[in-house]
Amino acid sequence: MKDKSAHIIVLGNEKGGTGKSTMAMHIVVGLLEAGKKVAVIDLDSRQKSIARYIQNRQTFMAKGGAKVAMPKFTVLTQSDAPVLKDCEKEDQVNIVKALDVYRKTVDFIVFDCPGNDTYLSRLAHALADTLVTPLNDSFVDLDLLGEVSPIDFEVKKLSFYAEMVWDSRKFRSASGKPPMDWVVTRSRLASLSSRNNKRVHMALESLQKRIMFRHVPGLYERVIYKELFPSGLTILDLEKVNSMSHVAARQEVRSLIESLNLL
Ligand SMILES: Nc1ncnc2c1ncn2[C@@H]1O[C@H](COP(=O)(O)OP(=O)(O)O)[C@@H](O)[C@H]1O
Ligand SMILES: [Mg+2]
Repeated sequence: MKDKSAHIIVLGNEKGGTGKSTMAMHIVVGLLEAGKKVAVIDLDSRQKSIARYIQNRQTFMAKGGAKVAMPKFTVLTQSDAPVLKDCEKEDQVNIVKALDVYRKTVDFIVFDCPGNDTYLSRLAHALADTLVTPLNDSFVDLDLLGEVSPIDFEVKKLSFYAEMVWDSRKFRSASGKPPMDWVVTRSRLASLSSRNNKRVHMALESLQKRIMFRHVPGLYERVIYKELFPSGLTILDLEKVNSMSHVAARQEVRSLIESLNLL
């Protein structure tokens, strides 16, 4: 048993396909590689992407693959009680139960959220010590945070999601916890430094001042991030990397993890 409660990391935004689960798995393996104990709580019980990623990792080892470090994991399914109030109560009880299983036995708990607004996802955001929000490389995705003028980059309006994170932060400070570290990063970046890429960067810099997140470099679009899913491995697990692209991938994953200031 540890005296200190586990550090809670939440991967969240309200859109599917932006790379939350992929990024979550790479952060998990990075922490395992550093000798930390990690538990994953999958809140996306429809896709179960990270749970499947971890199961593939178990199968890979069971079938004689190299021995790799494993996180603990569980999938939390949303309550289907007929009355909303009962649903919320049941979700709350279930998330507390799941946390109690891991809180004192691991160093990090990683929540992987679905790409839509659910009560479980809101609860996880309110618990986050570190929130990681991956965005794709387009102005459309920026709307997940707020509306920014593409001409002078002025922030016109905040999104429901940014408001929700704001409420989570207020809730945290009211309960006397240190501030949440909100990290916004891009994933699936186009490899060429396009004009669009630069404009999204400027817009994020402008949003960053208004809604207080840290914008850090993320992951490029690379085949290797999808290719390893069936084996449950990540670029960090490979003993040998034999192409420039793989070396760069490993480096960008390491930089991302370093920028989260977890270790
Ligand atoms: N950096 C990346 N490069 C290439 N493919 C990626 C990258 N990140 C995610 N993907 C792929 O994009 C799809 C959606 O990613 P996923 O991590 O499941 O997103 P989310 O959890 O936000 O829905 C998956 O097929 C995944 O393999
Ligand atoms: Mg996902």
